Formats: sequence, structure tokens, C-alpha cells
Amino acid sequence: MNDTFDRPALIAAARAAMAGAHAPYSGFHVGAALAFADGTVITGSNFENASYGLSLCAETVAAARASHEGHRAGLIAVAIAGGTRGVPGAPVAPCGRCRQVLYELAALGGTDPLVIATGADETFAMRLSALLPLAFGPANLAG
Ligand code: THU
Repeated sequence: MNDTFDRPALIAAARAAMAGAHAPYSGFHVGAALAFADGTVITGSNFENASYGLSLCAETVAAARASHEGHRAGLIAVAIAGGTRGVPGAPVAPCGRCRQVLYELAALGGTDPLVIATGADETFAMRLSALLPLAFGPANLAG
């Protein structure tokens, strides 16, 4: 499987996706960009709710969008960007729930995507398996 992707372009897509955030409560705008082995890039941004706890993170929105659009295999990389009013600060890594959501999508194609947490001055890149070791997934429910 092709596991190469344009890293600067994926980070740029995540940054651009921040513009789609609906974040009137936290003021924290997040963009995520998912790269697939076939070259497809799917983006998402956070979608907050007046009932705060129902808010959806950018990574979850991107994952649901990818599934809806038929991209369920070959997730090779995820880039995330975020900051107050869209101005990057500390690197943004996926929250615990999003790690699990991303794992579900990755597991459908048997990949271990590189997760790129970008910030103003620093960027961290780690495999999803390092961010979510011993993940619970579809294999646990099989058979
Ligand atoms: N958020 C994300 O969209 N992704 C993350 O990885 C961390 C947090 C959102 C949730 C909420 O809308 C805002 O950032 C502040 O927590």
C-alpha cells in the first residue's frame, strides 16, 4: 500500500480547515486533515453545541465525513491544527475520544496512521498505536 503523503500540504489543509470551526463557546478553533493511501484528503473542524458536552472535535468530524464519503480504508496520516480564535499556540494532539474514533477508521483498513500535532513553534508526530496502545477495536468483537 502507498503510505506516502505530502506532509506540508496535509498540515496546510489542517490549518485551512480551522476556518470551518463552529466554536462560539470555547473560541478554540481546530482543523484536522486525514490523508488516505489513494491520495484523498478529508478535512474537518470542531462543531460545538450550546449543550457544551455534545460538541464534536475536528478529528471526529473528519472521520465521520470520510466514512460517509466512502473512505474507510487506507488512512495513513492525520494532521491537526488549532488555537484560540484560530491562532496556533501549543501543538494540538487528539483528545482521548478522538484517538478511539481515529482508531476505528484506521482499523477498517489495517493501518497505523502517523498523527501530526502542529503548533506555532513545535510539531510532534507519533503513530496512532503509540498514542493509543492496546486499543479496543473491531477485532475484539469479531467471532
Ligand atoms: N477540540 C478538537 O476539535 N480537537 C482536539 O483534538 C482537541 C479539542 C475542540 C473541542 C472543543 O470544541 C474545543 O476544541 C475546545 O476544547
